[in-house]
Amino acid sequence: MKGIFITLEGGEACGKTTQIQMLKEYFKNKKIDALFTKEPGGMPLTDEIRRLILNYEIDPPLEKTELLLYLAARIEDIEKVIKPALEEGKIVIGDRFNDSTIAYQASGRQIMPIDDMINFTENIIDNFTPDLTIYLRLDPQIAFERKKNIDLELDRIEKAGLDFHRRVLEGFDYMAKKEPERFAIIDASKPKDVVFKEILSAIRKKVEI
Ligand SMILES: Nc1ncnc2c1ncn2[C@@H]1O[C@H](COP(=O)(O)OP(=O)(O)O)[C@@H](O)[C@H]1O
Ligand SMILES: [Mg+2]
Repeated sequence: MKGIFITLEGGEACGKTTQIQMLKEYFKNKKIDALFTKEPGGMPLTDEIRRLILNYEIDPPLEKTELLLYLAARIEDIEKVIKPALEEGKIVIGDRFNDSTIAYQASGRQIMPIDDMINFTENIIDNFTPDLTIYLRLDPQIAFERKKNIDLELDRIEKAGLDFHRRVLEGFDYMAKKEPERFAIIDASKPKDVVFKEILSAIRKKVEI
């Protein structure tokens, strides 16, 4: 039996954490054995990598260092967490995956042309691709309004400007257009429960839940 790998993608504050909490509750009630992963992190080594990426306010990692740190964490996650769970037939839900690297590092930070980044990262992760990617699409302006309402200090990445977040959105849009059969695009500006229903129906097209 082979499981299914589903990723949630989209910019900051599009509702990934919110929807993942709702999915956790849903699967728990239905007694469905699902595994939730969050990039980067989840194991001691990848938690350490996350700390390296996010916690150096003074002398932060160079952009390419950051890229390689994300990929290092992803390789660990794929081989040690995701693939073993899929072998057990589990539904694996990822909070961010390779599309975030394309959107943030290529389209957002413009480290390299987007198609080069797609080739580069796909080589690194041996073309391991999600079966379904739920793209919570949200205008960065709305995301910004949401973030202002959260009384938490924004981390280094979230402090980047609106122009950057527009390029990130374009990056996700590019991937969604390139692989329409993998992507389910959901309007993340809708109310939480509406978004959740749309997520469930997208998943149900791939697997019985
Ligand atoms: N559909 C929605 N409509 C309005 N606000 C939302 C919606 N989904 C999430 N939020 C709010 O937006 C903020 C960011 O949501 P969150 O789930 O943390 O996003 P992400 O994990 O994608 O960054 C939170 O305050 C959350 O309550
Ligand atoms: Mg989140």
